[in-house]
Amino acid sequence: MSEFPTHPVPANFKDAHINPQQYQEMYQRSIEDPEGFWGEKAVEFLTWDQPWDKVMEYDFVKGTAEWFAGGKLNVSYNCIDRHLPERASQTALIWEGDDPADSKHITYGELKDHVCKLANALKARGVNKGDRVCIYMPMIPEAAYAMLACTRIGAVHSIVFGGFSPEALKDRIIDSDCQAVITADEGVRGGRTVPLKVNADKALEACPGVHTCLVVKRTGGDVAWNDERDVWYEELVDQQSTDCAPEMMDAEDPLFILYTSGSTGKPKGVLHTTGGYLLQTSMTFKYAFDYREGEIYWCTADVGWVTGHSYIVYGPLANGAITLMFEGVPTYPDAGRCWEIVDKHQVNTFYTAPTAIRALQAVGDEPVTRSSRASLRLLGTVGEPINPEAWEWYHRVVGDGRCPIVDTWWQTETGAHMITPLPGATPLKPGSATFPFFGVNLALLNEDGSEIEGPGAGYLVVKASWPSQIRSVYGDHQRMIDTYFSNYPGYYFTGDGASRDEDGYYWITGRVDDVLNVSGHRMGTAEVESALVLHDDIAEAAVVGFPHDIKGQGIYAYVTPMQGVEPSEELLQELIQLCVKEIGPIAKPDVIQWAPGLPKTRSGKIMRRILRKIAENELDSLGDTSTLADPSVVESLVENRPG
Ligand code: WTA
Repeated sequence: MSEFPTHPVPANFKDAHINPQQYQEMYQRSIEDPEGFWGEKAVEFLTWDQPWDKVMEYDFVKGTAEWFAGGKLNVSYNCIDRHLPERASQTALIWEGDDPADSKHITYGELKDHVCKLANALKARGVNKGDRVCIYMPMIPEAAYAMLACTRIGAVHSIVFGGFSPEALKDRIIDSDCQAVITADEGVRGGRTVPLKVNADKALEACPGVHTCLVVKRTGGDVAWNDERDVWYEELVDQQSTDCAPEMMDAEDPLFILYTSGSTGKPKGVLHTTGGYLLQTSMTFKYAFDYREGEIYWCTADVGWVTGHSYIVYGPLANGAITLMFEGVPTYPDAGRCWEIVDKHQVNTFYTAPTAIRALQAVGDEPVTRSSRASLRLLGTVGEPINPEAWEWYHRVVGDGRCPIVDTWWQTETGAHMITPLPGATPLKPGSATFPFFGVNLALLNEDGSEIEGPGAGYLVVKASWPSQIRSVYGDHQRMIDTYFSNYPGYYFTGDGASRDEDGYYWITGRVDDVLNVSGHRMGTAEVESALVLHDDIAEAAVVGFPHDIKGQGIYAYVTPMQGVEPSEELLQELIQLCVKEIGPIAKPDVIQWAPGLPKTRSGKIMRRILRKIAENELDSLGDTSTLADPSVVESLVENRPG
């Protein structure tokens, strides 16, 4: 699997929360007696207003799952109030601005005041328990306040990544029927502004159901104003009381919706609920990062993605941790920024994506080695498979050979880590996410659905429910069943392929469906194709991924112009802009190849396998093309391959 030697548990992790023997014992118990195991952990990790009736009940045929039903708790109470007796004046959130001169600390006491005021402001605007609130924000503390304020009053948040276009924002607001939007005048990233309010205005033209748009003044830039709908955040929030009683929620009440891409159709709203989600995020946070009291923890994700939800906000705050939120990008003002921040705030744990590691590695060691990084104790990675070379660089150069690397495999749908090393328990193999977390019962399946025993490679599935499992696709439970529970009945299908070696280590190989992973961002090939064919001059488009040194995967689009339309540089630019408009800058194709025809079977199905091979430049292994309606199409594509 990997040429690289195994890294044993370092000496300074011998007294970690979980040692090797505990991992074995607890894992076994969690699989044999999940109700007993999770029931105990739910008491240890969370504060409940009322006990549950039953730990869990699920049905992988109907795609249903309930955890701790009947139990009552409030997420903001668990993330803030219960820590106040000991931590009112301890920092909860460190904010580091895009500009290296901007940073601030927010204590747990201050966090409570901010969150309660905003919760009262939302109530004043008529937002009630169960209502959906869209959060379209830059990485500023108000984004975390907004999430927690929703949970305080039982509103359901739906965060839309600030890099998404007005079109993408509109679709998401409409799909989850949001009544309020929280945004900012502008965001700031890498020294440039992001026109969030302008984008929101465009999106809201088509969303008459939104009665309130709360706007944080981040830059003071000029924005248009709709007096009935728009409210300055500061003006409304400042007048509110700092007391707001937390709403008692059922463990199975919805907590948030987060849109993610699948292999077909529009992005789906992954629905997470209250109790199970908070339990698994807080427990994985403590164990996977071996979090210790008072440590400074930094996850570089954006709150617009699930990693930001679970490991910037909910997991850390439920543990009373100190979590750092960074507004900017790793390369601004230069490629040393992350390590400057590590030194400035004495960061102990740093959690990022392989794409960022590769991008920084490509710049060379100097921006890293000019910093001290002596505070670092642990490094983490998430979002895509990490190649062993990048792993070794991260370990040797960033971590000075001293910090274990936790490679955490999970998904928007799983809510929390599913496969991850525990730094005090797991010898590390570079490139492997290692072993399942407690309670996670995995299998690898053959094409025919039979389980692979021992070493082998196949489809990665989960055999039993876990607390932070997706509960439904918002508004479309059938899609939940079709997407996750139909391919292999009785199992949750992850969409990933994986192998297991002779020591039982898991190695994720990537998606086996038509989902791309571009710089750790999930995107359906169908979404990009739909954007491209919106152009009047385009008849058809097919999109595949290809290996990209930095992004992991790049976007390769084959585009067929309408009859009589001449391909041109101008048309190409228009197509790129269309992807940006419909989805966002992350959806820009890296390569567009003009394709007079696409390889199709006689029944008209596009043979993506062949398109992938051409994109990957694997021209010797195109395979059997004899079943194609017109095999000459392939020759022409190969001949005209750009570059
Ligand atoms: C991929 C991100 C290999 C995988 C938390 C999964 C990974 C998809 C890893 C989910 C990892 C995530 N190693 N692949 N450590 N972590 N993935 O929903 O293909 O944005 O299915 O959640 O990312 O992406 P999502």
